[in-house]
Amino acid sequence: MKAKIIGTGSYLPKKILSNLDLERMVETSDEWIVSRTGMKERRIADDNEYPSTMGVEACKLAMMDAKVTPEEIDFIIVATLTPDYIFPSTACLIQESLGLKSAAAIDIQAACTGYLYALSIAKSFIESGVYNNILIVASEKLSSIVDYEDRSTCVLFGDGASAAVVSKNGPGLSVESVCLGADGEQAELLMLPGGGSRNPATQKTVNEKLHYIKMAGNEVFKHAVRRMEAASKQCLDQVQIKEEEVSWLVPHQANKRIIEAIAKRFTHLPSDKIFITVDRYGNTSASSIGIALDELMKTNTVKEGENLLLTAFGSGFTWGASLLKFTRNA
Ligand code: ACO
Repeated sequence: MKAKIIGTGSYLPKKILSNLDLERMVETSDEWIVSRTGMKERRIADDNEYPSTMGVEACKLAMMDAKVTPEEIDFIIVATLTPDYIFPSTACLIQESLGLKSAAAIDIQAACTGYLYALSIAKSFIESGVYNNILIVASEKLSSIVDYEDRSTCVLFGDGASAAVVSKNGPGLSVESVCLGADGEQAELLMLPGGGSRNPATQKTVNEKLHYIKMAGNEVFKHAVRRMEAASKQCLDQVQIKEEEVSWLVPHQANKRIIEAIAKRFTHLPSDKIFITVDRYGNTSASSIGIALDELMKTNTVKEGENLLLTAFGSGFTWGASLLKFTRNA
């Protein structure tokens, strides 16, 4: 028995931050942003929107899509690097808002690879028979940790949430395999230095801007391409599926150039089979793969038996890939 994604949902805040808006905030240009990242605009949460509230909206849509009730959810796993609070978990806040009375709840943190880590945990719990229905959620308010005076990072990130119901039974996307990896040696290349117990908030950490994302973009770029390619190939080997049998690539939406560099390494993937949202939403970290997967499924273009390859890379470093197969028949 393979775990299946039987419903998906996503939520994007209404407010749009365009490249032209950014031109008025820092020394940058639409031309630079589009040519270096492929991004045109991203969504920004309102002051009263949080990862929990955005996650709730994505979950409602995923549960409706899956036709499951709140009582049927056994476990909720939330992937986020921008939780509402350090504790209690965002998962508990969502559990309460949705009335998931019989669900256990936990947050996980694997940065942009969070969705795949959550999927892997859900797959294990379903296939071992511990739970029947698990809600995986990725929700990020990256605008709360972005320095809008730093042009090298502020153009990249956006807010949003995605969710999926992973179950034992039902039609949907069978989770054939998930491969995960990590390398803490490179931790300092992409991090939020302040706010944890090593550098708790003080006037000094605020003055030094330690509560904002710090990234060595160039270095991260190279690692991202290498790791996502390797994870994807490892994942295909594990299920003995050839490159040419992959119908769709749903990559983490960090940068269009990263996606193109990975696509080049897959000789059989035409560009119209690579699902892109980075132009509209920027990098929404853990949420990005789930948002893209939800939008792809809602286009109704995925056919019976088609294979979808998901891949992600993020701070840590962490990375992963997953192979999903679409089956209408349970
Ligand atoms: N507008 C104009 N110029 C800029 C901007 C900007 N917004 N940002 C940087 N520049 C300048 C730099 O100052 C530099 O100028 P210099 O040559 O005079 O020093 C020049 O542009 C080139 O800068 P690079 O950093 O070399 O530009 P690069 O082509 O590498 O693009 C980018 C930068 C977009 C950040 C890219 O490196 C990238 O996408 N990196 C990976 C991001 C990523 O994958 N993150 C992973 C997950 S995120 C997570 O886990 C939270």
